[in-house]
Amino acid sequence: MNHEFYFPYNVKAALKNDPPGEWMPALPEGCIRLSSGYPASELVPSNGIKAAVSTLLEEEQDLPLHYLGSPKMPRLKQQIQNRLAERGMKVQEEELLITAGACQAIDLIARALLDEKVVVAVEAPTYMEALEIFRNYTNQIISIPVDEQGLRVDEFASVLAERKRLGLVLPRILYTIPTFQNPTGTTMNEQRRMRLLELSREFDFLILEDDAYGELTFDVSPLSLKALDREGRVIHVGSLSKITAPGMRIGWIAAERPFITAFAWFKKDLDHSFAQSAMAVFLESIDLEERLKKLKGVYQRKCTLLIQSLEKFFPTSVTWYVPKGGYFVWVRVPGVDTSALLPLALSAKVSYVPGKYFFSNQDEGIEYLRLSYSFESEEQIEKGVQILGNLISNHLKNHLS
Ligand SMILES: Cc1ncc(COP(=O)(O)O)c(C=O)c1O
Repeated sequence: MNHEFYFPYNVKAALKNDPPGEWMPALPEGCIRLSSGYPASELVPSNGIKAAVSTLLEEEQDLPLHYLGSPKMPRLKQQIQNRLAERGMKVQEEELLITAGACQAIDLIARALLDEKVVVAVEAPTYMEALEIFRNYTNQIISIPVDEQGLRVDEFASVLAERKRLGLVLPRILYTIPTFQNPTGTTMNEQRRMRLLELSREFDFLILEDDAYGELTFDVSPLSLKALDREGRVIHVGSLSKITAPGMRIGWIAAERPFITAFAWFKKDLDHSFAQSAMAVFLESIDLEERLKKLKGVYQRKCTLLIQSLEKFFPTSVTWYVPKGGYFVWVRVPGVDTSALLPLALSAKVSYVPGKYFFSNQDEGIEYLRLSYSFESEEQIEKGVQILGNLISNHLKNHLS
């Protein structure tokens, strides 16, 4: 059978890209996982969720296991609405859609707003799974660089002006992770946030704001683009993955009503009413503010230790950005192809993500790597960075001599 025959052209085009998840090969037993962008086991509230599930089933028996889920589900929406309001984002019930994680949110947005003629602008580097999603819908992706202060909004303005002058199609959506970006850990400063919103009016595009790490600040979180938006141009995506449990798959989209209607149209009931019901009960059983305080303390300590270890064990030619929140440190290793080095690192039982996977044009990321401090203990972080530092020093010595 000619299986290809059955795929429409857009699926054939998408299947030519790297397969999803290709950025991380299987990890050896006992590997120190500086690649993993998810919480450590002890930070996942398994007992709290277990208690919430048993409360739910005791109180409601089979109800939460039906398509419609528990009558408590609207309370999850209410909790998220309250939390968003506390962060300066006042959204009505009809302006909020609960999704199976931020990833489903991005996929729904892409599905409703993109086709192969639509140009999407992304940060370079950016979250690789978002890139994978966009590539499933369009090949017209333009990349705008990020520096220590986040997206280079000035550069974006020049690209927009130049495309307009040349009569090229303008991007209709910009995807940005303005706060504690994945992979760079950087945060867009306020001046750039304001300028970006101005540009969105001037050049008539939407901003897809991915705020997956927005709550995980070591200091104060900046106001989100959504909180600063006066025109309804920002489609805000959030997630409970990084602050509760990623496997529960709870995320959301906050946006103007017509957009939410379209996203809900495609979502149907493809998310998990049971997980949402359990999360509603779990969130009611905890003090989220306290939980966040604890998480921020843990991540800040781990981040500080990772940075100190880089200073101690990495050659002086290596540079990085110091994050103010989130999960990641973005490292530049001049003269080293970080994908070529990965097999050696894995044999030495340390993992990282090579930089190239975070770029639409992979050549741009050759000398970079992403380290995560979310998963491993402080002891393992220090050990892992030491092993990597030795590997890099030896590699540079061998290649310079
Ligand atoms: C920037 C960014 N957005 C979204 C996600 C995925 O979030 P979720 O687990 O809610 O799908 C991640 C997870 O790594 C991320 O880094």
